[in-house]
Amino acid sequence: MKVLVLPTAERAAARTAGLVADTVATTDQPVLGLATGSTMEQVYADLVTLHRTDSLSFATTTTFNLDEYVGLSPDHPQSYRQTMEALLFSHVDLHPQACHLPRGNAPNPYAEAERYEAAIAAKGGIDLQLLGIGHNGHIGFNEPTSSLGARTRIKTLTRSTREANARFFDDPKDVPRYAITMGIATILDARHAVLLATGSSKAEAVARMIEGPLGADCPATALQMHPRTTVVVDREAAAKL
Ligand code: GLP
Repeated sequence: MKVLVLPTAERAAARTAGLVADTVATTDQPVLGLATGSTMEQVYADLVTLHRTDSLSFATTTTFNLDEYVGLSPDHPQSYRQTMEALLFSHVDLHPQACHLPRGNAPNPYAEAERYEAAIAAKGGIDLQLLGIGHNGHIGFNEPTSSLGARTRIKTLTRSTREANARFFDDPKDVPRYAITMGIATILDARHAVLLATGSSKAEAVARMIEGPLGADCPATALQMHPRTTVVVDREAAAKL
């Protein structure tokens, strides 16, 4: 694991956006794995700026998001599809059909998870996978006790994750109970994993991920096994290292 500690959250996001931009600029037909969560918002803002000012082009890029809530249609305002449209997709030259998320309202979510996993493989896998981290050490929606060998599938969200994400919904009861998420094994297949964490509330999870014992009680520790992981943190998130 390579750990980059930046003085501020803004600098950490800019460094992360720079890693993404380098991959897009230097890879033939790049495939990006994307993440949601408020930590990523500045990264996407920086990528939009790079697109506008440095003419960084996403014209040949394909994207696969980590996860989507089960039960939300792609046009639901709280779906991760709409979040990505608002933050990135509608502002850059990504081809609309090259932007993939699991379909939260698929009639058979189990089949949808299998289809999604196959679609990633059909594109030759992911060059760079962006990741945030949950307070309980989840990546994607791989909650504690997730099998480290799992691939894309349905996961039940923990109460703490539903509470943390309730801020995006009008009523906490509206937060979905299930998600389709890439599995840990899917994430570990990416050729480069880049995890961004900022703020003191993530310090404990960051310390466990980097220094703690490998185990399903902190799914992010699986990244210790990945040959090329870059963790980008600000000073606050690095405070317990
Ligand atoms: C959600 C997402 C994760 C993300 C996490 C942290 O649970 N599924 O991919 O890493 O939130 O989000 P935030 O950056 O808002 O703390």
